[in-house]
Amino acid sequence: MTLQDTQNSAGLSPDANWWRQAAVYQIYPRSFADANGDGLGDLPGITSKVPYLKELGIDAVWLSPFYPSALADGGYDVDNYRDVDPRLGTLEDFDRMAAALHAAGIRVIVDIVPNHSSDRHEWFKAALAAPKGSAERERYIFRDGLGQDGELPPADWESLFGGPGWTAVGDGQCYLHLFAKEQPDFNWSNEEVRADFRKTLRFWSDRGVDGFRVDVAHALTKDIPLTELPDKAQLDAHPWDGTHPIWDRDEVHEVYAEWREVFNEYEPPRIAVAEAWTNADRRPAYARATGLGQAFNFDLLQADFDAEAFKKIISFNLAQASAAGSSTTWVYSNHDVVRHATRYGLEATGDPDAAKTWLLQGADPARVDVELGLRRARAATLLELALPGSAYLYQGEELGLPEVTGIPDEQRQDPAFFRNKAVEVGRDGCRVPLPWETSGSSFGFGSGEAHLPQPKDFGRYAVAAQSGVEGSTLELYREALKLRRELQSDESLSWLATESGTLGFSRPNGWVSFTNFTAQAQQLPAGEVLLASGPLDAAGQLPAATTVWLRQR
Ligand code: GLC
Repeated sequence: MTLQDTQNSAGLSPDANWWRQAAVYQIYPRSFADANGDGLGDLPGITSKVPYLKELGIDAVWLSPFYPSALADGGYDVDNYRDVDPRLGTLEDFDRMAAALHAAGIRVIVDIVPNHSSDRHEWFKAALAAPKGSAERERYIFRDGLGQDGELPPADWESLFGGPGWTAVGDGQCYLHLFAKEQPDFNWSNEEVRADFRKTLRFWSDRGVDGFRVDVAHALTKDIPLTELPDKAQLDAHPWDGTHPIWDRDEVHEVYAEWREVFNEYEPPRIAVAEAWTNADRRPAYARATGLGQAFNFDLLQADFDAEAFKKIISFNLAQASAAGSSTTWVYSNHDVVRHATRYGLEATGDPDAAKTWLLQGADPARVDVELGLRRARAATLLELALPGSAYLYQGEELGLPEVTGIPDEQRQDPAFFRNKAVEVGRDGCRVPLPWETSGSSFGFGSGEAHLPQPKDFGRYAVAAQSGVEGSTLELYREALKLRRELQSDESLSWLATESGTLGFSRPNGWVSFTNFTAQAQQLPAGEVLLASGPLDAAGQLPAATTVWLRQR
């Protein structure tokens, strides 16, 4: 039986629209569960946790990269797109994992990293070995360097992780890397590159993968002159209107139109979601049905816990996605940002970078109100899970995990830290391996020491500490996801007239979600209480920073 067959026979609905209101759980494989005790999470580890994922009640998992990689950027530096990192398993392990997930009714989304490969990819090695002007170099973005021997970058561009964006190869040429120097950018004008990615999409689709999360989807196509490149100031000043030399160029959608044809070769068609940190008004082009089909909106992730801000963002994104024929995506946390239980415990600033700045300033724990952060995080989650559209949850948020601070410099892994120390502390704090048990080696993550250090008190967040415990964050997620499945129908939402600082909306079937964003208790609306993100007070009031789901007739 092929995986395609297991997909069809596993009790996954054949509904081509399964993704529109799915709850998708992001797994960062190296930090989820370690089956072989080498300190790195792996695919058999994920397979061993399928019962946990099933009980959680999610519709799909999205796996961050598990491909062979030197981990210069946590696996987003891919050596080979059609294989599994031997430290994480084998292709057979992948098949077993996908079959187990499918049998549990859970779809599988994988990460595809098309903007750049790693510098260990066979094509990049061939490019280095080949001369200037060769077909091998044409697959990447090589330009002549400046200076006597071309040893200087052709322009003063910076990598997104800090430091130069061009690296010299020693023969007068330099190559472009928007990220770490181990991540050379592909040349998407090259048909070989395009054909190879279509091959990769088919490779995983043939193995039964249900969809793709597309990394840095807005950077693939570029327009970089052969000589006299624009300088950094010119790049920074250039509007993102489809003509920027690097970002969000209009012709990137030609690539996705080709991908769509590949996705539609399958039944049901494979889905895709764009990671495109671009201007909001340019998202629909990624989300339309002739393109990737869905695009992340990171608007709630960047907002303070504030009723007005939430309402504006929700209204805008529902209208925008629906005009594009898509459904929107709600995200509070992922492997790139400070966990929201911690963000919400910091003073509101309206500045999305405030949490990063705080981490940089030595992360004084006295500045986080841990209790308030978690309380708001739980309220925000219940609100999110009542919204139309898909909800992308990041591993560990169901445990209320805070950002891990104080990781010693020598144990850090994120290139953003090493390349840009003065500006950011990096993303390791949200990538610390999960605590499954209250004690023992790496809190049940594996039998060895975890690859990133876990804090001493991590056990109190463990799955074992929360499972079956009434009122725990884990049980809140389980109940909410279960109810969401029962209550969800079409994608309509009506706002209720509410007092300032509160937000209420109704969905079909009398399902109402009501959130108190303020610091005082508020009047609880009428209706049968289905679930609340925290205890309700005896006087029938809705406490501060709490969401309640009600059934109203
Ligand atoms: C995306 C990923 C991030 C990675 C970067 C480069 O933003 O989410 O983790 O570092 O792309 O691939």
